[in-house]
Formats: sequence, C-alpha cells, structure tokens
Amino acid sequence: MVKLIGHKKVKTAVFISGAGSNLKSLIKFSKTKKSPISVSLIISNNPKAKGLKHGKRNKIKSRVFNFRKKYKIENQILAVLKDCDIKMICLAGFMKILSSNFITKFKGRILNIHPSLLPRYKGLNTHKRALDNNEKYSGCTVHFVNSKLDSGKIILQKKVKILKNETKNSLAKKILAIEHELYPKAILKVFNL
Ligand code: GRF
Repeated sequence: MVKLIGHKKVKTAVFISGAGSNLKSLIKFSKTKKSPISVSLIISNNPKAKGLKHGKRNKIKSRVFNFRKKYKIENQILAVLKDCDIKMICLAGFMKILSSNFITKFKGRILNIHPSLLPRYKGLNTHKRALDNNEKYSGCTVHFVNSKLDSGKIILQKKVKILKNETKNSLAKKILAIEHELYPKAILKVFNL
C-alpha cells in the first residue's frame, strides 16, 4: 500500500510508448477529487508516441528518452523523476523493460497494466495466444512491477468473455475499454481508498 501524506496528491509519472489511451484515462481520473494521484510527468521511449499529445493538451511535462543505452538513460530518468518530485510510476503501454536497479529505486511504487489474465500470457501477443488456446475468457490485470516480466503482485483483474467470432482486434478493443476503468480502480485500491 502506498501512503497518502496529508491531502496532497501523489505526483505520478506515466510511462508510455504508443497510443496512450490508458494515459488519457489516468489523466482524466487524476483530475477527479477522489484521485490520490496527479499525473505530473509523462515519459516516452518513442518520440512518435501518439499519447504524447495528451501531455500537450493537458499541459503536463513530457520527456522522451532513447533507450539504446538503457542504463545511462535510466539514470537520467531517475534524475528527472527526482527533480519533479515523482513518488509513483504507472506503466501504460510502455514497451521497454526496466532494469532491476531502476525498479529497486521505486520498489512497490511502480504499477503496470497488462492485457491478459495474469499469470496467463505474460509478454507480447496476448490476444492471439489466448485465441489460439481457445480460451473462454481473457481480460486485463493491474500489477506491481518487480524484476520479472509481468510477474509482480496482482492488484486487480477484470475478465471478459471471448465470443465465438472473436478476432485479436475485437478482443484487443474490448479489453482496452475495460483497462481504462481498471487502472483507476487499482490505484484507489493501492491507496486503500
Ligand atoms: C494496452 O493494452 C496495455 O495493456 C498494453 O499496451 C496497450 C497500451 O495501450 N500494455 P494504450 O497506449 O494505453 O492505448
């Protein structure tokens, strides 16, 4: 559980690589009274990430880092996080794997959203793999990040039924819609709210 100190919202950085629809929903949530977090910084490894537009629109500081030299870059990111007084990180469609050195520095304060019912289908291509295995259900999971990929403690999950004619695109769309509700709920849970 992350503790709230006084009534101040916890400054949070959202890490993205692409469309940023979860970022959008987190920004919307963070502006509500009940939110314990404020999205104060956006980090992207991809200068072309469409999600960066949500930062601009909402006047949230964004920084893009080229991950080719990961360790050096992670140290630069840690410095920016410190500068911006960031106390929590939400990974939202962030396609890079953070080192255990980085994760240790934010132990218990990095969350991720993953489009499957973990521990099933860690990693990529979750929807195709669920369909290939004739699963009846899939869904999404918000979990704490530890040094093993998609393996940290589960905070919340939500199931969806896989229909007969489901395609990986229709499943992705359906799951993304519930992700937008699940991430804010998981944050409330982390703060015991
Ligand atoms: C989501 O399905 C998320 O679970 C996965 O990547 C996708 C990101 O979508 N990790 P968006 O960038 O938030 O729209």
